[in-house]
Amino acid sequence: MSDVREEIRSRLLELIRDVREHLRYLEELGVTHWEDLPATDDLRACISALAASERTGEAPSEPRAEAARAQATLDEEIRKEGDPMTSKRRAARSATASPERASEQPTLFGHLPLLQTAPPTEDRTLEEIRADVGDCTRCKLHRSRTTIVFGEGDPRARIMFVGEGPGAEEDAQGRPFVGRAGQLLNRMIEAMGFRREEVYITNVVMCRPPNNRTPEPDEIATCEPFLFRKIRVIRPDVVVALGAIAAQSLLGTKAPIGQIRGRFFEAHGTKVMPTFHPAFLLRAPERKREAWEDLRKVRDYVLSLSRERASR
Ligand code: URA
Repeated sequence: MSDVREEIRSRLLELIRDVREHLRYLEELGVTHWEDLPATDDLRACISALAASERTGEAPSEPRAEAARAQATLDEEIRKEGDPMTSKRRAARSATASPERASEQPTLFGHLPLLQTAPPTEDRTLEEIRADVGDCTRCKLHRSRTTIVFGEGDPRARIMFVGEGPGAEEDAQGRPFVGRAGQLLNRMIEAMGFRREEVYITNVVMCRPPNNRTPEPDEIATCEPFLFRKIRVIRPDVVVALGAIAAQSLLGTKAPIGQIRGRFFEAHGTKVMPTFHPAFLLRAPERKREAWEDLRKVRDYVLSLSRERASR
């Protein structure tokens, strides 16, 4: 019994640390309130697991599994009794029901096209695509790069983040978003309630442009088919386009990011949410709140899909 108490104590301390950390990220992102977050589900689930273990004397079960079970029960109740349409559900539902289609999206620059980007052959794995990239010399960026930065994360990720191209740190380490912008991206991902390893992170171009200049159209045109193939293999629920270059590449538009951010588009067989690039947010922290609004829509949409899947 004392072992159980010790386990309970250490789980609670761990959760309190997580929640405190989470609040710090949110504060930094300019968040002033929220309706619900996965961490609070975890906390609730942990408390009920602890209460149950107190009664039975058995070690508490895994909080995340407990949260999933609690959610499944709730979903089952709603299925039986009808959806009470709480504000949270209404928000999640509207995010699910109405992602805008690029082809229906008039902008100052006309209608954004719905892209058809089928690769010549269907890839089955990211490794196949990496093998095809090889020691790439297809564009001039290969001359100045140290490493090809292919991308990293869960190959079955529900959310994919796409940036512009590697910077100095990324070029040195061969990993995307590991510099200052990457640290902010990590905090944004965690504020959404995910871990970096649970998402997939990549860029439009896989080689660092000299002096971190913007990739040129021919470089983008050479590299983006690989990005589109990665999306088709991973099949995420949402691709978050970080900044203008990623959004323009993924949506086939020249529209400025300020005009297209914050709305879901359909492209590459999935939803695309354009938002500000973390490097821009480091220069303009007053825009973090808008980026957070965008990410919240992504989180709500992905969570609503998970609930829908769990209730099937
Ligand atoms: N900026 C990007 O767009 N991508 C990276 O990987 C790092 C910084």
